[in-house]
Amino acid sequence: MLQVIDVCSSYGEAQVLNKISVTINPGEIVALLGRNGMGKTSLVRTIMGLGSPHLTQGEILMQGQSIISLNSNLISNLGIGYVPQGRRLFQSLTVLEHLTVLDNKKTNTWNVDRVLKAFPRLAERLHHRGNQLSGGERQMLAIGRALMTGPSIMLMDEPTEGLAPVTVELVESILSTLRDEGLGILLVEQNLYSALAVANRVYIIETGQIVWEGLPSILLSDQKILERYLGIH
Ligand SMILES: Nc1ncnc2c1ncn2[C@@H]1O[C@H](COP(=O)(O)OP(=O)(O)OP(=O)(O)O)[C@@H](O)[C@H]1O
Ligand SMILES: [Mg+2]
Repeated sequence: MLQVIDVCSSYGEAQVLNKISVTINPGEIVALLGRNGMGKTSLVRTIMGLGSPHLTQGEILMQGQSIISLNSNLISNLGIGYVPQGRRLFQSLTVLEHLTVLDNKKTNTWNVDRVLKAFPRLAERLHHRGNQLSGGERQMLAIGRALMTGPSIMLMDEPTEGLAPVTVELVESILSTLRDEGLGILLVEQNLYSALAVANRVYIIETGQIVWEGLPSILLSDQKILERYLGIH
């Protein structure tokens, strides 16, 4: 279980998160929704200990252990996987190289073969380099790589951004399978309907604060909240 408790975080002097509390349990998909610039990426980066923004107050616990003074490698080793927004890859490494550097790192149910089976498109592009992949192929590779680190909690920052509908469905079905296998997933999403198709619970963030939390079905029936925080009419 990952617990974010009353966390404040800043870029330099500028506060971006204000007393955020979020919990992700094993076996659930938790959607984090909110308009552009509200602090979704900042929250994920604060959890991962990337240094910018930096935590100024509060506590983050992974299986009860504080992670706020750890660097991002140690945090990843504790079982928190991360798919960053914008699909960062190594330009000069091939698909196969991206995956094999991580293989056998741990006893993990996700190895190269399983990733290639889940994303057949990657199997057809094994020897293409990072800079020769399409946006969707990069995103599939980023998700595959995060899975191969053997996470028990996965933070995914807009994993379906820019993907074709059929690929969005593929990612959604993989997320559901992972959830059913016991993975806890924090899913940052712009697309409300895509998020609600798979989420068990929802948080809405507005200028660095959690302003709503609850069940997808309740959110969908609350037109006021949808309008006020997500701009959906
Ligand atoms: N490196 C940075 N330095 C200073 N301010 C930043 C930095 N990165 C983001 N911000 C600001 O912090 C706020 C939150 O940004 P963040 O990237 O967390 O938003 P977001 O909810 O992920 O938005 P989006 O949906 O567009 O990805 C914004 O006002 C943004 O301008
Ligand atoms: Mg973002």
